[in-house]
Amino acid sequence: MILKNIKIENFRNYESLELFFDNKLNILYGNNAQGKTNILESIYVLGLTKSHRSFIDNNLIKNGFNNAKIKGNILDNNIKSTMEINIEKKNKHFKIDNNDIKKTSDYISKLNIIIFYPEDLELIKGSPGVRRKYFNLELSQLYPKYFKVLNDYKKILKIRNDYLKQMQKGIEVDQTYFDILTEYLIENAIFIYKARNKFILRINEYFGKIYKRISGTEGLIIKYSPYFNLENFETEYLKKTLKEKVIKMHSTEIKLGVTLIGPHRDDFLFYLKENNIKEFGSQGQQRLAIISLKLAEVDVFRKYNNKIPILLLDDVFSELDDNKKNKLLKYISKNTQTFITTTDLKNIDPKTLTQAKIFKIKEGKVIKTKEVENNE
Ligand SMILES: Nc1ncnc2c1ncn2[C@@H]1O[C@H](COP(=O)(O)OP(=O)(O)OP(=O)(O)O)[C@@H](O)[C@H]1O
Ligand SMILES: [Mg+2]
Repeated sequence: MILKNIKIENFRNYESLELFFDNKLNILYGNNAQGKTNILESIYVLGLTKSHRSFIDNNLIKNGFNNAKIKGNILDNNIKSTMEINIEKKNKHFKIDNNDIKKTSDYISKLNIIIFYPEDLELIKGSPGVRRKYFNLELSQLYPKYFKVLNDYKKILKIRNDYLKQMQKGIEVDQTYFDILTEYLIENAIFIYKARNKFILRINEYFGKIYKRISGTEGLIIKYSPYFNLENFETEYLKKTLKEKVIKMHSTEIKLGVTLIGPHRDDFLFYLKENNIKEFGSQGQQRLAIISLKLAEVDVFRKYNNKIPILLLDDVFSELDDNKKNKLLKYISKNTQTFITTTDLKNIDPKTLTQAKIFKIKEGKVIKTKEVENNE
C-alpha cells in the first residue's frame, strides 16, 4: 500500500499544502513545533478518521477556520483510490473515490496505518484500558467485523450495566430481557476473545525476533491476559466457561452494579523472559518493545491479511542510540512505505539519506524537498 500524495487544507498549522511522497522512505525534518508531527497526524486522520493524539476533532482545524480537509491518493496492489475527509466543528464526512461513505467501518479498513509516537510508551506504562483501546483499533483496521462486534458489545454492556445498577438499588427489572442481554453479551464476548487471542499469537511470531534483531536480547513476548484464567479459546469452552461465570458472579455483579465478565476487563502484558517489563524493563527496553510491536504488526498485516500498511514513525530516533537507530533503519522492510520525523539528519546513515525523500518543515511550510540528499 502506498500513499502517493496528500493535500491538506486548514489542518493544524497548515493552510494549504500538497506533498508527493516516495514509495519507500520519507523523512520530515525541522525544528520543534514546526509541523512535522502534524503531517504524520494528517496521514493518520486520513486513514483512521481520528487523531492519534487528540480526542477533540476541533483541535485539528487550523485556528480561525471552520473546517479542515485532507485528501490522499492511494495505490493498493496497483489499484488507485482517493480518500477524503472533511472535518467540520461538529461533523466529519468521508469519501472514497468521490462517493460519500456513511459507515466508519467501511472507511477505516481502506488505508492501513501503523504508527509509533513517543506517547506510545503508555502502552506499557499505562492502564489495561490503554492497551485494550490500542488492540481494538488495530483489529478494527484488519477486520471491519471486529469493529462492528465491538461496538455492539459496548452497547449491550452499557444496557446490562444499567440493569445491574437498578438491581443493585433493589428495583425489579425484566428478567427475561436481562437474560437475553447476557446471552448477546456472551456471544459477542466470544468473538472478541478469539480475535484478540489469534492476533496476539500472530504478533508473537515476529515480535521477539524483531526485538532481538535490534537489541540482541531474546525472550520478548506479549501475553494476552483475560481477567480470569481461560484455558483455551475454543468456542464451546468459552461459551461454557462464560455461562458458568455469569451464574457464579451474579450476586457480586448486582452488589457492584457492573458487568464483571467479558473482554472489557482484558489486559495484554509485555514480558522479557520471565519479567513483566512494565515493572522490570529499562526505559530503552520499553521503547524498543513498542517499536518491535509496531514492526511485528506490519508483518502480521502482510502475512495474514495481504495488506502492507504504511508506517509512521514519530520521533523514533531521539529515543535510540546510534547503533540501534541504524539497526532499526536497516530492519524497516524495503517494501513498507515509511514516514519518519526527526529534528536533525546528523546521525542518520548517509547511505539511507540518499535513498530517502527529504522534506524540511518550517512554520507550517515545506521549504525544501530533495529526492536525494547526501548530508545537511
Ligand atoms: N489547530 C491549530 N491551529 C494552528 N496551529 C496549530 C494547531 N494545532 C497545533 N498547531 C501548531 O502546530 C505546531 C506543532 O506542530 P507539530 O506538533 O507538528 O510540531 P513538530 O514539528 O512535530 O515539533 P516537535 O519536534 O516538537 O515534535 C505548534 O506550533 C502548534 O501551535
Ligand atoms: Mg513532533
